[in-house]
Amino acid sequence: MTEKQTWSQRFESALHPAIARFNASISFDIQLIEYDITGSQAHAKMLAHTGIISPEEGEELVTGLEQVRQEYQQGKFQPGIDAEDVHFAVEKRLTEIVGDVGKKLHTARSRNDQVGTDTRLYLRDQITQIRQYLREFQTVLLEIAEKNVETLIPGYTHLQRAQPVSLAHHLLAYFQMAQRDGERLGDVYKRVNISPLGCGALAGTTFPIDRHYTAKLLDFDSVYANSLDGVSDRDFAIEFLCAASLIMVHLSRLSEEVILWSSEEFRFVTLKDSCATGSSIMPQKKNPDVPELVRGKTGRVFGHLQAMLVIMKGLPLAYNKDLQEDKEGIFDSVNTVKACLEAMTILLREGLEFRTQRLAQAVTEDFSNATDVADYLAARGVPFREAYNMVGKVVKTSIAAGKLLKDLTLAEWQQIHPAFAADIYDAISPRQVVAARNSYGGTGFAQVKQAIIAARTQVNT
Ligand code: ARG
Repeated sequence: MTEKQTWSQRFESALHPAIARFNASISFDIQLIEYDITGSQAHAKMLAHTGIISPEEGEELVTGLEQVRQEYQQGKFQPGIDAEDVHFAVEKRLTEIVGDVGKKLHTARSRNDQVGTDTRLYLRDQITQIRQYLREFQTVLLEIAEKNVETLIPGYTHLQRAQPVSLAHHLLAYFQMAQRDGERLGDVYKRVNISPLGCGALAGTTFPIDRHYTAKLLDFDSVYANSLDGVSDRDFAIEFLCAASLIMVHLSRLSEEVILWSSEEFRFVTLKDSCATGSSIMPQKKNPDVPELVRGKTGRVFGHLQAMLVIMKGLPLAYNKDLQEDKEGIFDSVNTVKACLEAMTILLREGLEFRTQRLAQAVTEDFSNATDVADYLAARGVPFREAYNMVGKVVKTSIAAGKLLKDLTLAEWQQIHPAFAADIYDAISPRQVVAARNSYGGTGFAQVKQAIIAARTQVNT
């Protein structure tokens, strides 16, 4: 250091080494290198297609760029900090390979439209990959649901036992969240997939370029209609980070439940050894590190979203170097979301066992069938609010007597209201309590079976 910078002709002295390091993005934007090469190849083809350079020159650039790609893939090309960023690094190596014609590549282009193009190409691939991870996650949720339609689990509101539900129903709630996550990413993709290439530094270019031609070569759906907007828009990044944050919200909620369920207080699941860790001091411990880490990592993705919003809020048009700060947050969010989806999928597939006996016991030991007693009376003509009040009293006296509703004799029931008959016992059995909630989207077994069929179709499309 410090080697001369690409733009150094206009400058008297070289960059201070610390400032060169501060300014450089190569340490992280190197991840964009293949997209940068692909984008540059499309640009070179367009320059030849429009006659801005000759067809031979176009060929040389495309082939030379391919060699840069090969060298990078084989580990032979490892640009250092003197390259400043991936765009300069590629152009410099290209020029070393093909000679002076390499210097024509940057005709009618700026790093501003170039970096926007690269980031979009990267994000496009990543969105497709994350959607695939989501599908895997949904598939395992569905597999467990299919086996547990009639497994009951206490359902909660305010973290108080409320009404029992089918375990499948509970897991399918997460399936639905993941379904929306996938659809949301598909929607974000539409706005990622717009080409800024050809917007130039900010105002377009004096050359007769064909932006639609490069957009087509790169599989973009359309091109930015305004060059200032094209080079400085990061809405697509914010939207992606929003979608990533919501995926993390969902994974974190599931994580929290798994952590609770694996505690001695709940004992609803056992963590298998392949996905749990021990304590360095307490020999009896088995810790739910996987869901804890997922819950913890959620914070950093939210942080990246917040950072991106703040980066953008005061930016005047058009490109500002602040925008270089978009990449690390995007990369880290992509890596975090993928790692968390993969870990949770493995945890569900092989790291978690539902303690079905304990669950069956849990749904019999509380008053979560009280609504069903009120519904029983309401179905026999007692206004619901009156029935609700009567049952409230029964719950109170039963707690005082150390009894559950199922322990009341028929005579006791009939003293409360003459409409009670022998079928009250079946009506308040946990199985019936769940089966009876057969309204659309409810936990009744018939509904859950329908929901599973619908979910199967969703994962297969
Ligand atoms: N490394 C820069 C970034 O990531 C590339 C664009 C630089 N443009 C400029 N006008 N300095 O944003």
